[in-house]
Amino acid sequence: MYSKKELLQGLATQVIGNKIFVFETIDSTNACARTLGDADTPEGAVVITDYQTNGRGRQGRSWLAEPESSILFSVLLRPPVQLEMAGLLTLFASTAVARAVEQSVSISVECKWPNDLLIRDKKFCGILLENSLQQSGLAYAIIGTGINVNQQSFPDEIGDRATSLALETGKTHDRKKLFHAVVREMDKLYGDVRTGDFSSIVTEWTRRCSMFGRSIRVQQHDRTIEGTAVRLNFDAGLVISTSDGLQTIYAGDVTMTS
Ligand code: BTN
Repeated sequence: MYSKKELLQGLATQVIGNKIFVFETIDSTNACARTLGDADTPEGAVVITDYQTNGRGRQGRSWLAEPESSILFSVLLRPPVQLEMAGLLTLFASTAVARAVEQSVSISVECKWPNDLLIRDKKFCGILLENSLQQSGLAYAIIGTGINVNQQSFPDEIGDRATSLALETGKTHDRKKLFHAVVREMDKLYGDVRTGDFSSIVTEWTRRCSMFGRSIRVQQHDRTIEGTAVRLNFDAGLVISTSDGLQTIYAGDVTMTS
């Protein structure tokens, strides 16, 4: 079980983690962070838990993790970015997690559009960005992060696609230390987010992504798109070259087909 005192001790960040709300069990840290956002809580607040009863994933899916196996947390941010640029926040969070894991666990991490982090082609981390809008644009953003740390196995349905840091390294890992490393990397990169300069983040994210130039299939709710992944658009959309020309998409599950 996380202790609030331990989580705050030695964190020493400027914005992210200025307040930490710790729960043994909660429905969803994203849902809780939204409540904080609606209550005008200043940016930087973090909600972290050992277990979620209703963890949310992308595309309406659930995010399941057994108690005390993972790092499950959400950050409330109020970045002065245009609403249409908000997708870049997923790249910001992915880059911070990738840096922290590579440094702390000494393993190479791959970024997969739009929000996954992989080790040896298997997913160990997902990011769920939820935005709240107001008339003038973005009121706040919630960045929810789920990192599989010490799981020793996964249900059969996802066993061939999911992994944990323990499975990949053969060791268990200290969740508090890794959480600190992730929050520190987020805090370092947040300066660029605040000034609206995502160029280094995009470059670093792209360096960890092996999809560009390859054939892909994207499954969306109502359609499948096939083509070649060309590049990221200025707003983190994925530009695909298809038989109908260039298309930019903002959601979907990507499979590499070559
Ligand atoms: C995905 O890959 O589908 C995104 C998964 C995001 C899961 C995290 S766990 C902490 C936070 N709270 C939630 O309810 N979801 C995110």
